[in-house]
Amino acid sequence: MSSSFVSKMNKRVTSLQQSNILLFNQEVSQIKDIVKLTIGEPDFNTPDHIKKAAINAVEDNESHYTNSRGTLELRQAAANYFHKKYDLNFDPKDQLLITAGATGAIFSAFEAMLNPGDSVIIPTPIFPFYIPITMLNGAKPIFIDTSKNNFVLSPEKLEETIEANKDTVKAIVLNFPTNPTGVTYRKEDLQKIADVVKKYDIMILSDEIYSELTYGEKHISMGTILPEQTLVVNGVSKAFAMTGWRIGVIGGPADVINEIAKVSEFTITSSAAMVQAAAKEAFTNGFDDAQPMKEEYLNRQKLLKKGLEKAGFSCPNPDGAFYIFAKIPEKIKENSVDFARELANKAKVAVIPGSFFGPGGEGYLRLSYAASEDDLNLAVQRIQKFVESK
Ligand SMILES: Cc1ncc(COP(=O)(O)O)c(C=O)c1O
Repeated sequence: MSSSFVSKMNKRVTSLQQSNILLFNQEVSQIKDIVKLTIGEPDFNTPDHIKKAAINAVEDNESHYTNSRGTLELRQAAANYFHKKYDLNFDPKDQLLITAGATGAIFSAFEAMLNPGDSVIIPTPIFPFYIPITMLNGAKPIFIDTSKNNFVLSPEKLEETIEANKDTVKAIVLNFPTNPTGVTYRKEDLQKIADVVKKYDIMILSDEIYSELTYGEKHISMGTILPEQTLVVNGVSKAFAMTGWRIGVIGGPADVINEIAKVSEFTITSSAAMVQAAAKEAFTNGFDDAQPMKEEYLNRQKLLKKGLEKAGFSCPNPDGAFYIFAKIPEKIKENSVDFARELANKAKVAVIPGSFFGPGGEGYLRLSYAASEDDLNLAVQRIQKFVESK
């Protein structure tokens, strides 16, 4: 049954497309015996001590609304954790907000910051989620293709783009380690970006959800470089293998967080009380929980990278997260969507086309190594055989 009412609904919503990553994943999931390296989700279980904290909270009847910013205990635990890990200084009383996943943090931040007609600078290739949220608020995404600069936003390009859109730019998105490239930003890169941004009255939304999955040098947060103009987004999803628990954190200047907190309050009232208890345990006693996962991811990354290179792909060195952004071999003439579809149907390996991640992504595939070693070995064998046959 369809309804003519849809034509009267919010045009900003009806004109949005569903996520093409999810649609593509659904499409290829129908293929029998397919090996899936599509979705960015840890395949580890949530650590037991965190699960127990949730069970205890349920048994202790922690079943009520909490403070809409999250319980003060959780905010304190998060503030300590981010201070010890990354030297961030957020006052748990008014500089931190607990949200429904990092997604909830990004959504509430954009809703609070953007007016129709504003614009948001988004370096690409990137996790595409920021784009519909920008558009839902009547704002315009402005892309900067980073593919010719080793997938790092160049301060010169940034300044040029801000200058060209000076009257509308409200925010800049940074995401590092980056989904889909695995590239991360060093202190010098962040400092140069900060030197540009501080000339303007704009905010950086720094999505650092993969901070714990950094394989080389220690993660440096943008919140330590330009705290007065940065909103740091993080959470428990990737570091503690807790994607389904839906807890995110956003920290920044108190007056900006105050406004973002209103949006979150009017959207979800508060995150689930027993889940907040689990997140508090994660931040308090899970300091090293990501370590064994990280070692395992690194082994898998090496296996996948070696296999892909043998098949003729080239891969930027992944410094973090759990993705390889592989450049499709020269001899393949199809675009990334057609090639990924053929790979799924004929070789039975599912990966995400690079073009889904915005300008600069065409010619690449994103492969997630948050998958078992057996699956990665099988995927590599199949990809090598398929590319050889082309
Ligand atoms: C860069 C980035 N930010 C945010 C998210 C979403 O995080 P959460 O599950 O905490 O909402 C993802 C998930 O893949 C991501 O890759």
